[in-house]
Amino acid sequence: MKTQVAIIGSGPAGLLLGQLLHLSGIDAVIIEQKNRDYILQRIRAGVLEQGTVSILDRARVSERLHREGLVHTGFDVCFAGQRQRLDLEKYADGKTVVVYGQTEITRDMMDAREASGAITVYDAENVAIHDFESDHPRVTYTKDGKDFQLTCDFIAGCDGFHGVSRKSVPTSAIKTFEKIYPFGWIGVLSETKPVSDELIYANHESGFALCSMRSPTRSRCYVQCALTDTIEDWPEEKFWKALKQKLDPETAADLETGPAIEKSIAPLRSFVTEPMRFGSLFLAGDAAHIVPPAGAKGMNLAASDIHYLSNALIEHYTSGKKDKVSLDQYSHKALARVWKTERFSWWMTSLLHTLPENGELGTKLQRAELEYVFQSDAAQAMWAENYVGLPL
Ligand code: FAD
Ligand code: DHB
Repeated sequence: MKTQVAIIGSGPAGLLLGQLLHLSGIDAVIIEQKNRDYILQRIRAGVLEQGTVSILDRARVSERLHREGLVHTGFDVCFAGQRQRLDLEKYADGKTVVVYGQTEITRDMMDAREASGAITVYDAENVAIHDFESDHPRVTYTKDGKDFQLTCDFIAGCDGFHGVSRKSVPTSAIKTFEKIYPFGWIGVLSETKPVSDELIYANHESGFALCSMRSPTRSRCYVQCALTDTIEDWPEEKFWKALKQKLDPETAADLETGPAIEKSIAPLRSFVTEPMRFGSLFLAGDAAHIVPPAGAKGMNLAASDIHYLSNALIEHYTSGKKDKVSLDQYSHKALARVWKTERFSWWMTSLLHTLPENGELGTKLQRAELEYVFQSDAAQAMWAENYVGLPL
C-alpha cells in the first residue's frame, strides 16, 4: 500500500491530522493497534480551549460539539473552607472554554473519517517504522496474521506516550525532560448531577480534588491518590468521602453521589521530547510530550501540534515548493507552545496538590499564593489566559 502521509495512532492527534489532510486532498492512512470500540471506551480529557474548538471547526467535525458542549465562562477554586470564582471571560478578554469529552470528539472524528472513505487500519500488530532518515520512509505491520508494508512521503507519530514512533528514534538524536510526580489521580465517572454548573478545583491539606462533568446529568470527579494505589483500593464510598472532605461544607452537602460507570487511576508526569522532527518523522501529541492533567491541557496540546503540522504538510503539498521550510519550522514552533503549557500545568499542579516533601511549610505557602491570586487582577489574568489557551 502507498500513501502520502502515514499516521501512527488513531487518538485525537492522529484523527485530527487525518481529517485536516483529507479536506486538503492529501492522502493519509492511519495505522492503529487497537479497535474502534476499545478507543471509545477510554475516558480522558474534558475541557477544550477556544483555539481547539476553532481547529475542530476548521476540520468540520464540531457540529455536535456546538450543540452538546457546555460553554464555561469561569471555574471555582475551593481552599481554606471556601470557594472563589475565577472569571475566565473577565480576565481572558472574553474567552471561554467548552466542556465536551475527548471520547465524544474521538467519536465525531472517527465518524467523519468513515464517511470520507479514508483508510484506517485497526488492530494492527507489530507496527514498526523504517527509513525515516530518508525521503522514502515505510511502515510495516501485521494484521490477521499477514504482513503488510505502507510506503509514504512522511510519517506522523501520533501514537501516544507508549507508542512505537518516539521509541524508534536513536537515543543520540533525541533529548527528553521528565518529572514524575509522587501521586496520581483516581477518576470516577458517574450518572449524577454535577455539584455545580462550573468546574471546582480543590486544594486541601489531605490532597487535591476536582469536580468536573460530561453533561448536565453526568459527573466526572477526581481525587489525589498514592502512586501505588489500585482501583481496588478505592471503593465508591471511600472516593465520595475523600472528595467531600476536600470541599467546603456547603458544596460537600450538595454533592450527589452514586455508582461509578468508570473508574481509573492516572499517574502524573511532565515530559518533553526535543526535537519533535527526525527526518521524515514528525511526533505530535502525547508521543512527544505529557502534561500533568490539572491544567486540562493534554488534548489541547495535541490539537495545537496538529494545527502546526497540518499547515506545514498542506503548504508542502499545495504550494509546489520543494524546500520544506514550514516542515523545518514545525518542531521549533510546536515546542515553543509546548514548554509554556508545560510550565502552566506544572504550576497548577504544584499550587493545588499536597506535595508530601513540602510539609506544613508547603501547605502554608500554597494557601498564601491562593489568597494572593484572588486579591490580584494580574495573577487572575495569568491563570485565566493560560487556562483558556495561549495563542496558536
Ligand atoms: P492518545 O490519545 O494516547 O492516542 C494514541 C493512539 O495511538 C491510541 O489510540 C493508541 O492505541 C495508538 N497506539 C499506541 N501505540 C501504537 C502502536 N505501536 N501502533 C499503532 N497505534 C498505536 N488530558 C486532559 O486534559 N485531562 C484529563 O483528564 C486526562 N486524562 C487522561 C487519562 C489517561 C489515562 C491518559 C492516558 C491521558 C489523559 N489525558 C488527559 C491526556 C489526554 O487524554 C491526551 O493528552 C490525549 O489523548 C493525547 O492524544 P494523542 O492522540 O496524542 O494520544
Ligand atoms: C477534566 C480533567 C482535567 O484534568 C481538568 O483539569 C479539567 C477537567 C475532566 O476530565 O473533565
